[in-house]
Amino acid sequence: MSDRTVSGEVSSFDEQFELSLRPQRLAQYIGQHKVKDNLRIFIDAAKMREESLDHVLLYGPPGLGKTTLAYVIANEMQVGVRMTSGPAIERPGDLAAILSALEPGDVLFIDEIHRLPRAIEEVLYSAMEDFCLDIVVGKGPEARTVRLDLPPFTLVGATTRAGALSAPLRDRFGVLLRLEYYDDDSLAEIVRRSATLFDVTIDTQASDEIARRSRGTPRIANRLLKRVRDYAQVLGNGDITHGLANQALELLQVDPRGLDHIDHKLIQCLIERFRGGPAGVDTLAASIGEESMTIEDVYEPYLMQIGFLQRTPRGRVATYLAYEHFGYEQPQS
Ligand SMILES: Nc1ncnc2c1ncn2[C@@H]1O[C@H](COP(=O)(O)OP(=O)(O)OP(=O)(O)O)[C@@H](O)[C@H]1O
Ligand SMILES: [Mg+2]
Repeated sequence: MSDRTVSGEVSSFDEQFELSLRPQRLAQYIGQHKVKDNLRIFIDAAKMREESLDHVLLYGPPGLGKTTLAYVIANEMQVGVRMTSGPAIERPGDLAAILSALEPGDVLFIDEIHRLPRAIEEVLYSAMEDFCLDIVVGKGPEARTVRLDLPPFTLVGATTRAGALSAPLRDRFGVLLRLEYYDDDSLAEIVRRSATLFDVTIDTQASDEIARRSRGTPRIANRLLKRVRDYAQVLGNGDITHGLANQALELLQVDPRGLDHIDHKLIQCLIERFRGGPAGVDTLAASIGEESMTIEDVYEPYLMQIGFLQRTPRGRVATYLAYEHFGYEQPQS
């Protein structure tokens, strides 16, 4: 969990209201057209054949709607859903208990599936492929394998790190769907939808403004909306106007591109102390008092995504877009 306003990771603040904002059906799920078009076909085909849906792997950065989509899939298939996560399944017995409690066709959602212990993963293979479990009962010479038949089910796995998944596990998913960062129009639509659910009035310019500052991430868009709504209540009459949204976002220290003070510190350090780079990540980390890993995993991806920062073999380099955004004069060379 993170306290950063512009983090894609879930915070305790989000948990209080995210549930009420989750779209229930595919038609309410905004953006991600490629993913939705594919899913629509697979779901319709499975329903026509009266079969369970193929196993689905959802991957992409935090806060883009993986968990939401798992529920949507279950709703569209009109089946039940059981939620768990990789680290929560510790022993093969845990998995057996979950699987044998499923109803035919149910969705089993495993979040953070890349963190599933290897021993569990191996048990999962036969469950995914043949809908059966081979469990060893007893110990030593008494030990024997018992085959347990399972109802057909759909495994929906979610991960932010598809690369961390073992190849045999990845290969057992029939449908692999990669969620992309959202464009501003989709995010603005998400903001307006959420505003309606919050029962608050927002003008188009304000929803566009929040969208632009949300780093392509619905979770951040909803979080910013919730914060801006508080300002509107205290400083205005509750309606969210463009002026009010701007004012609130300024106070929240979220700049017009969705960058916060840590992004600023990083880029400014690179430009001022290292003449825009190249600078090694460790040197950079020491200069701003952060861990190298945090810089690589948390701060850099978005800065690279919007073209402000480049990773080169010789180190990090600030691009001309970054110079422009932060109001620095371009270096001569
Ligand atoms: N396509 C969408 N349309 C509307 N709202 C969305 C969409 N995708 C996500 N959201 C909103 O964003 C919030 C975060 O989505 P969700 O929890 O599904 O993300 P996630 O990818 O599972 O994140 P994590 O990687 O942290 O598990 C949800 O509460 C939902 O309201
Ligand atoms: Mg999730």
